[in-house]
Amino acid sequence: MQTSPFHLGLFLQGSSVQAWGEAWTGRISETWMQPKLFVDVAQALERACFDYVLLEDSSYIGESYGASREIYLHNGIAVPRQDPSVVATLMTAATSRIGIVPTFATFAYPPYLLARLVASLDQVSDGRIGWNMVTGSSDFAARNFGMDKLPEHDLRYDMADEYMALVNQLWDSWEPGAIVADRDSGMLVDHAKVHQIDFEGAYYQSRGPLNSGPCPQGRPVIAQAGGSPRGRQFASRHADTIVASVKGVESMRAYRDDVRKRLVGHGRDPDSCKLLFLVAPIVAETTEDALRLKERRAARVAAQVERKLAFLGKITNIDFAQFDLDAPIGDLTTNGHQQTLDDFKRKAGNRTLREAVAAYNSDGGSVQLVGSPDDVAAQMAEAMQHVGGDGFLFSLPDVSRRTIAEIEDGLVPALQKRGLVRKAYAYPQLRQNLMEF
Ligand SMILES: Cc1cc2nc3c(=O)[nH]c(=O)nc-3n(C[C@H](O)[C@H](O)[C@H](O)COP(=O)(O)O)c2cc1C
Repeated sequence: MQTSPFHLGLFLQGSSVQAWGEAWTGRISETWMQPKLFVDVAQALERACFDYVLLEDSSYIGESYGASREIYLHNGIAVPRQDPSVVATLMTAATSRIGIVPTFATFAYPPYLLARLVASLDQVSDGRIGWNMVTGSSDFAARNFGMDKLPEHDLRYDMADEYMALVNQLWDSWEPGAIVADRDSGMLVDHAKVHQIDFEGAYYQSRGPLNSGPCPQGRPVIAQAGGSPRGRQFASRHADTIVASVKGVESMRAYRDDVRKRLVGHGRDPDSCKLLFLVAPIVAETTEDALRLKERRAARVAAQVERKLAFLGKITNIDFAQFDLDAPIGDLTTNGHQQTLDDFKRKAGNRTLREAVAAYNSDGGSVQLVGSPDDVAAQMAEAMQHVGGDGFLFSLPDVSRRTIAEIEDGLVPALQKRGLVRKAYAYPQLRQNLMEF
């Protein structure tokens, strides 16, 4: 059996109304503007010693489905949502060990602004910030920033390589020890240790140095989810943690082997990047209760086919409303999330669109985890043993204080009992905890 512990993270669908219309979400429609649920989630998962909470983001209202915003607004699908930097700040203020990883897209934040914002977050959190580095996937979002459309998929990653080079230089523009704080001489900062960068790229320019001062972690933790071949090449070059949604333990293992090879190809230690797989565990008191819950969830998906298609259409830019629900899906392509669409097409096979949605949304993520806390702990151990390691990113379809408590007070103690996850943080900073094992 797997002996080394693995890492845990939560994938939170944005600084949005969580699980509108689902049971046990309290007065979410009135309370969503205040951060109390997010703060409670961060504190609960810190008690459970999670590595981080990743705050997903997009900066537009969906309108792919039927060329209308109606289904998105009516059902609260990724809207309304606040800027993740604000919610991330409040989450870090209420915690002291867990990492917080907001998403910022490179097309939306000029590099200097991003470097300064993320450095400031790293400072106020005492070195617990990660940046989920995305290149964007929607022309609707691009139009909110004055562009006609996003650059083509692979070009976005070429531009992002340059963007990373620039922000890394800005974060490095303060040498270690630049802040002298010598009261006798009166020197706060040694000017010889703060450097102009004069970055002149094909896409981005910046003079520097960064005026926010240095990051406590040197550079923030970089999270990335590029899943296409070009995306993986990018992620393995820059990321400290990669989040991936691939289906089945064989694909998970192949993905991890591929990423580790690419890390070595970039001259990196393959253990310097932790790969977390997206899963949606169904945990209940007993195995039977969990199986019943799984059935209820599947029935709910079947009743929400249009909503699920609207969500898929938002991230792939495809108008699924134009297709017959009861006919097989045709050949689809995207300039958005390519890997998501590939997974969907693989799952669909010869199924009708309606059946494909049901199958895609009910398979629990990278690997099926269903049962009592101890069942699920055993399933996670088995998967990790097969894959080789690193960990899981939980994506809960209905985030509420109740579902978070099922993880914190139900599943995590079962994992800890088997020695599969940490019982206490060893370090104060996010990267240190990520690299602990
Ligand atoms: C777990 C996970 C989280 C992601 N979070 C975001 C996000 O918050 N915002 C975003 O625009 N894209 C997000 N993505 C999409 C990725 O950035 C990327 O576009 C996608 O995985 C497809 O990879 P590709 O662009 O290499 O085809 C996420 C993907 C995954 C698997």
